[in-house]
Amino acid sequence: MSVTVRVPAKVNVQLAVGAAREDGFHDLANVFLAVSLYDEVTVTPSRELTVTCSGPDADQVPLDRTNLAARAAELLAARHGIDPAVHIHIAKDIPVAGGMAGGSADGAGALLACDALWGLGTPKADLLDICAELGSDVPFSLVGGAALGTGRGERLTELPVGGTFHWVFAVADGGLSTPAVYREFDRLAEGTAVPVPAASPLLLDALCTGDASALAGALANDLQPAALSLRPSLAATLTAGVEAGALAALVSGSGPTTAFLAKDTDAAQQIADALLASGTCRTARVASAPAPGATVL
Ligand code: C5P
Repeated sequence: MSVTVRVPAKVNVQLAVGAAREDGFHDLANVFLAVSLYDEVTVTPSRELTVTCSGPDADQVPLDRTNLAARAAELLAARHGIDPAVHIHIAKDIPVAGGMAGGSADGAGALLACDALWGLGTPKADLLDICAELGSDVPFSLVGGAALGTGRGERLTELPVGGTFHWVFAVADGGLSTPAVYREFDRLAEGTAVPVPAASPLLLDALCTGDASALAGALANDLQPAALSLRPSLAATLTAGVEAGALAALVSGSGPTTAFLAKDTDAAQQIADALLASGTCRTARVASAPAPGATVL
């Protein structure tokens, strides 16, 4: 017997970053939007905890206990005083270390899958607590849709979305380390007063009404200058997407994946083709949003 859970990637339509806190994290106003690129996490009873991964970038995924899926199984098992005796298989379609919360998706997916496999029926609030322990973006992978994350991004308020948004994601060669991007943010902010992060009313309204042009005007990522500083070649990718007709372009989270908002599915496909032809990215994927959160298949 096995359980499979499907979990979406995310893009941050607004990522407002405050000053570094004493604990090293940053307070955020983080508006998450789940998009229709998915990993599938399958758990099967086994003698001991093991992880395997398949997919084009599987060789970049750690298979030891640092994998958030393994840590999720361990945390859930420890909470219930049982053995995390499962084999976890990750069918990976979300770009690895790309700023799209692929690792977080696997953590949320493994948590929900183990909960079902072990028949625990853990209340959602407890699952969300475990998610927050696993990482700042993991609670959102569980709930999906759209949400405002405050604190370090783990305290969620679900947001209404009034339509479907069409996106293109340009996947870069290699990943970017999230801590390194935050460190670069701190370096660039040195000597300046970093404002307290706040969600943009215009952006929340654009999500609520499903207005892609309004959303395009309100997209904002405070980590973008840091990601561009560490990976200057991303500027050419952003330009290529805008020249191909994107309503707006931005770095996804800490990058290096770049995200392009399109007016409809046809435009999205054209932008993806143009990005690929531009030679400024490794691959381009089209997706729609909002996508549902972690779901048992
Ligand atoms: O929470 P998570 O483990 O995903 O965070 C990874 C790293 O990203 C942290 O160690 C920290 O360096 C940085 N981070 C941050 N502020 C946040 C979220 C993450 O500085 N709100």
